[in-house]
Amino acid sequence: MVLHNLFFLVLTVAAYFSLIPLFEKLVADARGREVAIMQQVPRTAGEIKISQQQYKDALERARITLFLVLGSIYVLAVLLLESAIMPLYVYRPLRKMLDADQATQSGDRERELIRPEEILSDEIGQIMRSRNATVEALRRQEDELEAALRKLEEQDRLVSLGLLSASVAHELNTPLAVLAGSIEKLIEITDDAHTLERLERMQRVTQRLRRISESLVDFAKVRKQQMEPIAIRPLIDEAWGLVAIDEKASTVDFVNSVRAEDRVIGNSDRLMQVFVNLLRNALIAIERSGRIEVNSRRTPRWVTVAVEDNGRGIPTDVLPDIFDAFVTTRLDAKGTGLGLTVAHGIVTQHGGSITASNRPDGGARLEVSLPAAR
Ligand SMILES: Nc1ncnc2c1ncn2[C@@H]1O[C@H](COP(=O)(O)OP(=O)(O)OP(=O)(O)O)[C@@H](O)[C@H]1O
Ligand SMILES: [Mg+2]
Repeated sequence: MVLHNLFFLVLTVAAYFSLIPLFEKLVADARGREVAIMQQVPRTAGEIKISQQQYKDALERARITLFLVLGSIYVLAVLLLESAIMPLYVYRPLRKMLDADQATQSGDRERELIRPEEILSDEIGQIMRSRNATVEALRRQEDELEAALRKLEEQDRLVSLGLLSASVAHELNTPLAVLAGSIEKLIEITDDAHTLERLERMQRVTQRLRRISESLVDFAKVRKQQMEPIAIRPLIDEAWGLVAIDEKASTVDFVNSVRAEDRVIGNSDRLMQVFVNLLRNALIAIERSGRIEVNSRRTPRWVTVAVEDNGRGIPTDVLPDIFDAFVTTRLDAKGTGLGLTVAHGIVTQHGGSITASNRPDGGARLEVSLPAAR
């Protein structure tokens, strides 16, 4: 603020000292003409003295006038500059940038961008626009980094959970095998109907424990796999082929509407496991002669595969935790509550996501988004 005013002052002083000789010359020229006239007319010594005094006065007046004119121009220029031009075009934009910078530093995302209507169309405006673009780019990178970090943490948790599951499964498998073998032996040698019934119940429970243990091993397998481009449509047909072993499947209207060109990056064995789980759940949920449809859609980065059924829908108390381990409504029957947990683990391992919802016209929709193959 002081510097440019000082500069103007220097300019004014320079103008004053360079104009003064010009003014003095003008006054001197006028005096010269006056002297020439005076020499033609004889004057007394007193008159000559008065005339010299007038010349000195004229010189002095010229200096003062010049000083006053330049001084007024300087004061007016400074006033105009400091009260209108500088505040509008410099001070206010700079204050806005400083405020926005402070907001950026304190992480206040609401105020960190300068509003478009406050940006002028001059050079400072260009700096403001460039600053906004930089802040936006930085925030985008920050968000992506945070998302990647969250994903990494989740994968880390899955790996630890997988390791834990593997060791639990390992500890369970041997005693369970011994138990199953012993029960089988006892069934063979028992004649008493009541004991036989109890043994068979024990056998069913043991089988269920073995299934849980196998699922835990599946879960543990969710680690780095061979990834390659995979066509989804034949994978769904194959998965349905496995699920359709169940006789209930013959009464179901199954439609594979996945687009033939949709391919994802993944491991086919693991993804098969995901879709077998989803299709089996759908098959269990529908009444006889129900309908299961699988369809797909694609964005540049993702292929989303939706498995839809018109069954009873997901119970509302199960829905929020549906991907958690041991969440099941089939505890009394054959469910372990690990099917969707394993599916979620595999999909996450692929860098994708899975969501569950109920369709407005009844039944469930499970959506799996996977990285699209180019
Ligand atoms: N298509 C669906 N329709 C209705 N409910 C569903 C559907 N899919 C899943 N569910 C609900 O979510 C629960 C959890 O499913 P999940 O596959 O994880 O376990 P599960 O099927 O019970 O047992 P399993 O481990 O043998 O698969 C199910 O018990 C069921 O209540
Ligand atoms: Mg299941």
